[in-house]
Amino acid sequence: MKLSFEDYKRIRDFIYRQTGIMFDDKKLFYVKKRLDARIQNTDALDYVDYFRDLRFCDPQRLELQALVNLLTTNETYFFREFEQLASFAEHCLQETCQVKRKLGRRRLRLWSAGCSTGEEPYTLAIILREMLEDFDDWNITIYGTDINTRVLETAQQAVYEQRAVKDVPPEYLAKWFTSTAEKRYRVQQQIRNTVEFERVNLKNPAELTRFSDIDFVFCRNVLIYFDNESRAQVVSSFHDCLNPGGYIFLGHSESLSRITGAFRLRRKGDSIVYQKPDQEGK
Ligand SMILES: C[S@@+](CC[C@H](N)C(=O)[O-])C[C@H]1O[C@@H](n2cnc3c(N)ncnc32)[C@H](O)[C@@H]1O
Repeated sequence: MKLSFEDYKRIRDFIYRQTGIMFDDKKLFYVKKRLDARIQNTDALDYVDYFRDLRFCDPQRLELQALVNLLTTNETYFFREFEQLASFAEHCLQETCQVKRKLGRRRLRLWSAGCSTGEEPYTLAIILREMLEDFDDWNITIYGTDINTRVLETAQQAVYEQRAVKDVPPEYLAKWFTSTAEKRYRVQQQIRNTVEFERVNLKNPAELTRFSDIDFVFCRNVLIYFDNESRAQVVSSFHDCLNPGGYIFLGHSESLSRITGAFRLRRKGDSIVYQKPDQEGK
């Protein structure tokens, strides 16, 4: 079936409005392949028919969800961007906890926004277990959210192939994972207990308002798929949900410089991170 460029543009603009993910003109064949896979599962006659059904005959957005599940890029692994995580563990986390201990506020909220199959939020849970000697005195929640419901199912199962754990330090692998008979790795229950998974579409501001009192947002390798307008909208929501002095961690190829001036750029260890000004505006 031929997908005309005009029909492609209509569908990709609709996906952009729904998800913030922008497919450029070169992605026609990537999108077409996934549309073909979905059309086979419906009684749509062609792309125009499918697109009409997608907009007007999908009240619960089930078909849109199935299409989005095929379209997102979900590459991830444990301890991805190790240097940045070291800066988080050795500097940002320690400083934040020190301030909170003094104030007697032993609550930490982390958010892995665009968590894919769960490796990032579980990595954060392992880091907190390893770095906080007084871990049990803290009330800790790590939110793992994604628009793709298929990856969230994998995250809940918490069983991974060898390639996902290749960068996990061996002593952590032995301590926080159990090997399965199929040569896979199951994250231990103690780590899983700290993480809550949920479907959240970052493009929909209404879905983000329920997050508040957050200390650290990790939104790494997600905004690269957005355009500047959607990035600005998502980052503004992060600003609202973060505590004063809270941090945003982006992927190494991502930057807020053209998006907003609302965060301070800080060098922490070997990494650059973004911090919301504290109560004194510093
Ligand atoms: C490449 S993965 C990054 C995973 C992890 N943060 C990392 O750096 O390893 C990007 C994730 O962003 C998710 N994503 C894309 N658009 C989204 C949106 N509008 N709302 C929530 N998640 C989205 C995708 O489903 C995908 O799982």
